[in-house]
Amino acid sequence: MKGIILAGGTGTRLHPATLAINKQLLPIYDKPMIYYPMSVLMLAGIHDILIIASPDYVDNYRRLFEDGSSLGIRVAYMVQPKPEGLPQAFTLGREFIGGDSVMLVLGDNLFFGANMTELLARASSRRRGATIFSYRVDDPSRYGVVDFDESGNAVGLEEKPLHPRSNQAVTGLYVFDGTVADRAASLRPSARGELEITDLIREYLLEGSLAVELMGRGFAWLDTGTHDSLLEAGEFVRTIQKRQGIQIACLEEIAYRQGFITADQARSRGRALAKTAYGQAILTALEQRARPRM
Ligand code: DAU
Repeated sequence: MKGIILAGGTGTRLHPATLAINKQLLPIYDKPMIYYPMSVLMLAGIHDILIIASPDYVDNYRRLFEDGSSLGIRVAYMVQPKPEGLPQAFTLGREFIGGDSVMLVLGDNLFFGANMTELLARASSRRRGATIFSYRVDDPSRYGVVDFDESGNAVGLEEKPLHPRSNQAVTGLYVFDGTVADRAASLRPSARGELEITDLIREYLLEGSLAVELMGRGFAWLDTGTHDSLLEAGEFVRTIQKRQGIQIACLEEIAYRQGFITADQARSRGRALAKTAYGQAILTALEQRARPRM
């Protein structure tokens, strides 16, 4: 399976903070925002990752991850000339995807939860169709919304509905089978002039090949779209990290525990960052001989 992080867009809702920097490079507490979605793809065991960014900032991502080898992965980069919709990830990424299945994560989505690895493994094991992850929110009108019949089967999908039929928002994490690039290429722009991922997902729903995984209580899906939600996300990360003495989205730690990098590689990164809790987490992972699940 391939992985794509969509990290373009204009970030206008965060001006002036994002006048000179891409939103997904802003820090969430102690690391760049894009580390969080990157951690999700790595926890899913994905080695081939494409970062799609706007022309002005793609080089910043390249500086951050280079070719990915320090994390034991391969990272490729591509420009999205204009933010014309999320499904462009698949038309732009067609060659990279190469007919495989693909996990897409939006560069500004932060996920944290105990069963993340199991949830990702279940979605990755489906050979056909698509999987979305839904999460109960108080304000569903701001998101894609999925609704269910009495037996719990998904029956409808709407993008930012004025009158939502449920409180289950569609999060910015998706798994699609190898037909996605063709499907994305035949989408037409919506009334707001964008290609909509909801239209793409609806095709799978109508064909009966859509799986919906519920991210339940105890799971965190955090928004970073406004100044307030950005700060709240940072406070959340800080609270968990301080209380538990763990790191959320420490990429080298994940890479080591997943067996992507050797102990020597992890040690040299840990030492280089030893003045930070982030670096210490890498060194601690090395001390723990066993490799418990993240
Ligand atoms: O966050 C989950 C939601 O993401 C879903 O519930 C919605 O169904 C989905 O449409 C999307 O809604 P948003 O309103 O959050 O989409 P937005 O246009 O803000 O884009 C999300 C991120 O993707 C944002 O950081 C910018 C980036 N982006 C967006 C577009 C449209 C791109 O990189 N390229 C694009 O063309």
